[in-house]
Amino acid sequence: MPARIIGTGSCLPGRTVSNQELEEWVDTTDEWIRERTGIEQRHLAVEETTTSMAVEAAKAAMENAGVSADEIDLIIVGTVSGDMCFPSTACQVQSQIGAENAVAFDINAACAGFLFGLSIAEAYMQADMARTALIIGGETLSKMMDWQDRSTCVLFGDGAGAAVVQKDETGILGLVQGSDGKRGSALTCRNRPVNNPLVKNDPMPDHTQMDGREVYRFAVKTVPQAIEEAMEKAGTEPGEIKYFLLHQANLRIIESVAKKIGQPMEKFPTNLQKCGNISAGSVPILLDHVSRSGMLKKGDKIVLAGFGAGLTWGAAVLVW
Ligand code: COA
Repeated sequence: MPARIIGTGSCLPGRTVSNQELEEWVDTTDEWIRERTGIEQRHLAVEETTTSMAVEAAKAAMENAGVSADEIDLIIVGTVSGDMCFPSTACQVQSQIGAENAVAFDINAACAGFLFGLSIAEAYMQADMARTALIIGGETLSKMMDWQDRSTCVLFGDGAGAAVVQKDETGILGLVQGSDGKRGSALTCRNRPVNNPLVKNDPMPDHTQMDGREVYRFAVKTVPQAIEEAMEKAGTEPGEIKYFLLHQANLRIIESVAKKIGQPMEKFPTNLQKCGNISAGSVPILLDHVSRSGMLKKGDKIVLAGFGAGLTWGAAVLVW
């Protein structure tokens, strides 16, 4: 497949909130959160916005890739928490980084947003419609939480990650995407309801609601299947994969996936302990952390996998 990731970047808000601090905000305990999820802290936006973090992540990825703004011809932002209904986050990023030659748009595939963006960029490159793309996953999920609802607010965090993808002879070896709208009610956040002279509704959007057990069941069944399918498409065995970088929702989900595909947990780097679940941001932020810590060398094969609201899922096998 004719596309390769050539640079990564990420941005997290400066303010961290530990589980202990959360105990003061909502009826929960550090022990409950750690045992059920592995999360110890998360970063929450104060001055930062989805766009500002997406811009910082994009600049870092471009610098890492050695690519200038005028070379970018496609910008895709995966987000469910843009600052504006319109213009899109991608158009705002385009403006702020000065990527005047790019076409820019957002996609809503929740926690699979980065993987969906990667698939779209790859298809654009197959069709000769783009040469150098910026794929960003960025979220300010904290503004979409009910901070009285302990079953959701302890799980999520804010941040953005980005990758520069360029047309090449190799790089992405296998891609899988999937959706199951029938099960979408497991994880929802209602937008503004109809409110006009004909009908009166509370004009405010709602908060995130989740059937945690249903989402858990979906993830531990579907993610290993998607990864296996992507590896089959890539003609790759699990033993050849150096790292599996999964959406950072929950350590127990990651442990279950590792067991199902028969690979040791050492191959599954995590940052959910420090970042929580950042939806579309999780996979590119983790990829950036792993890449910048020197854990990857040219020629390594890795798997990326995202899953979440929709329901949606995506997996990719890449050669670094
Ligand atoms: N602190 C303390 N207690 C909490 C709590 C919290 N933050 N959240 C829920 N509880 C309580 C519940 O009220 C319930 O109490 P009860 O037994 O007295 O009614 C108890 O803990 C068990 O709740 P339950 O929701 O059944 O827990 P669980 O074992 O299913 O774990 C999740 C909850 C959310 C950790 C788990 O379902 C999960 O990880 N699901 C996947 C979620 C996810 O990853 N979503 C994002 C996907 S992109």
